[in-house]
Amino acid sequence: MTARLIDGKAIAARIREQLAGEVAEFHQSTQIVPKLAAVLVGADPASQVYVRNKEQACAKIGMASDVHRLPESTTQAELLDLVGQLNADPLVHGILVQLPLPKHIHETTILDSVTPLKDVDCFHPENVGLMVQGRPRFLPCTPHGVQVLLAESGAEVDGAHVVVLGRSEIVGKPVAMMLVQKGETANATVTICHSRTKNLAEIVRSADILIAAIGKAEFVTPDMLKPGVVVIDVGINRVNDRLVGDVQFEGVREIASAITPVPGGVGPMTIAMLLKNTLTAARIAAAN
Ligand SMILES: NC(=O)c1ccc[n+]([C@@H]2O[C@H](COP(=O)([O-])OP(=O)(O)OC[C@H]3O[C@@H](n4cnc5c(N)ncnc54)[C@H](OP(=O)(O)O)[C@@H]3O)[C@@H](O)[C@H]2O)c1
Repeated sequence: MTARLIDGKAIAARIREQLAGEVAEFHQSTQIVPKLAAVLVGADPASQVYVRNKEQACAKIGMASDVHRLPESTTQAELLDLVGQLNADPLVHGILVQLPLPKHIHETTILDSVTPLKDVDCFHPENVGLMVQGRPRFLPCTPHGVQVLLAESGAEVDGAHVVVLGRSEIVGKPVAMMLVQKGETANATVTICHSRTKNLAEIVRSADILIAAIGKAEFVTPDMLKPGVVVIDVGINRVNDRLVGDVQFEGVREIASAITPVPGGVGPMTIAMLLKNTLTAARIAAAN
């Protein structure tokens, strides 16, 4: 069996096209142009690429964006001050603080300072709480991207055993929480694995759907999987100037029924979901 490819690039392009229409309609009825403010501290090359991609994605669908590029030496107080200004700016609807932040800045303090109404990454505890309770204001971008890919792939999530590799606040934990909810493309039985999990290979082999988000190049090999499994590979790892996922793609595609490629799988979906959240934030602002 050779797995069907779940084409995140094409699915994300379709979502962006639909969003462009919604942005135009929203503008027509409210005269508001949704705007994302991105904050980038330091010169991490990967972060610079991510922020540039987000900026370009906004422009392509008719949204405004500002990137605040700050030096590595920025203090926590200066960064808190900028976030405060963006919180208060009525022309800014979504605020994104690109991670990682320099070591001398306490990440949680900064993320908690973003007003929940503009928290388009869905990192604020109020928004995480709402999501866990099944009444989301925003959905976290990468996990939401994963869920939409599952929906588009036609995978049966309802009642399936989903194994999530990784328990980060950004991917592992929230994606598990979303798939265990009552609702569409959810109702799964979810197992979360991490670096202290015993019998990881055995658990992974029982997965109907595997979501890999550990940041270890080609960690998941075909011998670890049940034939017919659906594989969503969130990992992005640079190996000798090549991007690879957390899953050994060539081998695993011979045993899985569907699989996302890296690149071109989850990555483009994350940005599409960020745009969606920014439009939601603009709608919230317009209604208040
Ligand atoms: N495509 C996208 O848009 C997108 C978005 C975000 C992240 N990513 C990628 O996804 C990957 C994960 O990102 P992240 O932010 O979630 O990473 P992270 O914060 O480093 O978390 C990694 C998780 O994997 C677990 N882990 C590490 N090694 C393991 C092992 N050998 N066996 C089992 N579990 C292990 C860790 O366990 P412990 O908690 O026990 O340490 C941790 O929970 C990275 O490659 C990242 O670049 C992609």
